[in-house]
Amino acid sequence: MKINTQEAEQFITQAYNELSKSSAEIESRINAIHEEIAQTGTYTHTLEELTIGAKMAWRNSNRCVGRLFWDRIQVMDAREAVTAHEIETALFAHIEKATNGGQIRPYITIFKPGEDGPHVWNHQLIRYAGYETEQGVIGDPASVAVTKICEQLGWRGARTPFDILPFVFQENHAASPTYTEIPSELVLEVPIAHPDYPGIAELDLRWYAVPIISEMKLEIGGITYQAAPFNGWYMETEIGARNFADEGRYNQLAAVAEKIGLNTKRLDSLWKDRALVELNVAVLDSYHKAKVQIVDHHTAARQFGQFETNEQKAGREVTGEWAWLIPPVSPATTHIFHQRYPNKIVKPNFFYQESPFHRQDIVPVKRGGCPFH
Ligand code: ARG
Repeated sequence: MKINTQEAEQFITQAYNELSKSSAEIESRINAIHEEIAQTGTYTHTLEELTIGAKMAWRNSNRCVGRLFWDRIQVMDAREAVTAHEIETALFAHIEKATNGGQIRPYITIFKPGEDGPHVWNHQLIRYAGYETEQGVIGDPASVAVTKICEQLGWRGARTPFDILPFVFQENHAASPTYTEIPSELVLEVPIAHPDYPGIAELDLRWYAVPIISEMKLEIGGITYQAAPFNGWYMETEIGARNFADEGRYNQLAAVAEKIGLNTKRLDSLWKDRALVELNVAVLDSYHKAKVQIVDHHTAARQFGQFETNEQKAGREVTGEWAWLIPPVSPATTHIFHQRYPNKIVKPNFFYQESPFHRQDIVPVKRGGCPFH
């Protein structure tokens, strides 16, 4: 890996300034980094650098409306985890600590960077499988590709609409992918019901408590961490207005409309809008009753407003991607809709990376299947 020393210097200077370190400390750390790069070709972040770097990456995430809490993410340093057992143990620990019985804590688990480090194939650590059948997809259509890979590796799901996918990961760049089932007691889920429309519970919808994005890479000071799963908590529209509602996902609006007795014959009855709102009410009420942390989009927008104020006070420009920051339900009721944000990419940050699904040089190995067949 070729290290961009200029990015390292920029990061150390900004991070150490934010941490109120002296210019002497900055200079001596930059010198040490130059020396380490000269000798080993790369450099190693201290835990303090890793922590502030992860926080800055969240703060710079233009698509995230939840950035008020950027300073509260906790870092789990998993750079020593190299065997499959060590990697899955770190991922299990992440789920457990982040879930925290429903009082969700933002966490990031950072693995060894570069080709010797692991690569997580899942989009999120917890997600539902999607199976293509002749009658259409069972489960989450967004998971069809990864579900196929899991089955190639020897995994077999129960084929309910809400089967939790196993982890799929490589120990390092050269290793073949393996999978591990997540112990079900680690996965907190919420059954969805509506406080006023009992029919909605009959749809048997459920969703998991913690969204843990695991496919993005984290870039700090010229170092790329290709495996660094991170989580916050849900905003209700992500589940109620997208995962359950999108036609390319669980596509439940017509079913909801039927349960609450709306006229779906005419588009101008606004049945889609009414079903959407009630589905979001159901998600919020269900998470509240299950004591699982969640935020509604109005509160989240206010919190983002507070983030903007804080950043202004700190003398930093708030960058953002408007189309992602506005909620998909009633966007114009939030201040975000009426404002514009520069979509400038500032580092440290999270980035998409090439999906490993299409790598031709990887032969999946079966593990845990019957040894005689
Ligand atoms: N939108 C994604 C989902 O519905 C989760 C993205 C991250 N969301 C979050 N609140 N941190 O699963």
